[in-house]
Amino acid sequence: MQKTLLSGVKPTGIVHLGNYFGAMRQFVDRQDDYRQFIFIANYHALTSVSDGELLKKLTLDLAMDYLAIGIDPKKTTLFLQSDVPEVTELAWIFNTLTTVPYLSRAHAFKDAEAKNHEVNVGLFDYPILMAADILVYNADVVPVGLDQKQHIEIARDTAQKFNNAFGETFKMPEPIILENVQTVVGTDGRKMSKSYNNTIPLFGTDEEIKKAVMSIPTDSKGVEEPKDPATCKVFALHELFPGEELEALRARYEKGGIGYKESKDLLVAKIIAFISPMRTRREEIARDPEAVMRILREGGEVARAQAQKMMIDVRAKVGLTLK
Ligand code: ADP
Ligand code: TRP
Repeated sequence: MQKTLLSGVKPTGIVHLGNYFGAMRQFVDRQDDYRQFIFIANYHALTSVSDGELLKKLTLDLAMDYLAIGIDPKKTTLFLQSDVPEVTELAWIFNTLTTVPYLSRAHAFKDAEAKNHEVNVGLFDYPILMAADILVYNADVVPVGLDQKQHIEIARDTAQKFNNAFGETFKMPEPIILENVQTVVGTDGRKMSKSYNNTIPLFGTDEEIKKAVMSIPTDSKGVEEPKDPATCKVFALHELFPGEELEALRARYEKGGIGYKESKDLLVAKIIAFISPMRTRREEIARDPEAVMRILREGGEVARAQAQKMMIDVRAKVGLTLK
């Protein structure tokens, strides 16, 4: 039997190269080999977006992005997290098995708390809702970027806790984190992230891409000086496009004779050439939002049926069902 793959992205901003290379591209590459569930994590987005109209827009945009990169709704169940309210029920049951000190140790919570005085309860509980997302479909594998690794560990711990308390029910999900793109760097050298204002948008215009790439800081080495590809943030982004050209560029860096301006121009050209076909496809998809909503609705029905099946078993085991 085919294994089940599941993953999601939050509709909290514009999709960027980090999302694509770290996670979303795998959803396309693997859809022939897995029974695949891909969703839009709109319940999770509520922890940071509190404008209904904006959330709707970001949600539809992300659905279009998924389709434009090549997610095929005939092969992948593409849906909204909120079309399967069973996940919130399962998250509640998991909450009762999870301690406050355990969740207090989660990186995302600690980071948020360090920055932001009063973290909402949804954000604190974020990993448990994510565990429910993964476990309600009995996912075998979850492709994500490195920043999500701890969340998958929490999902595994939670499955274990439930199984220990109520008998074997959930499978242990495995993350799939691609070594070479586990953390795509942003234009400021930190992890590229919607929340850092350092992204290169996946469907940006030529101008936006150029502007983002040109803003990457470099050192003051002259054109002729040898440069270290391992510490150059521009080169780190070139590495998203492996092949002969990359190796030739690496040699030029090491030997000297290429300036950062030329390296940036080459990178802009590479990104634009890579994303152009997807951008064109996205423009076509955006002409028919009704069709996109239909795909999500149909995907939601398939996903929900699966989740409901799991919840019959869960409800019976924990004692919510009386007979
Ligand atoms: P962001 O950090 O921009 O808010 P999300 O949390 O919505 O992005 O992440 C969606 C997916 O993209 C997750 O699987 C996440 O691990 C992955 N991802 C996000 N940023 C990066 C990055 N810079 N490098 C690799 N993967 C990333
Ligand atoms: N937390 C993930 C992120 O920030 C999004 C997400 C929610 C997710 N539920 C998931 C990813 C389940 C994988 C599986 O990107």
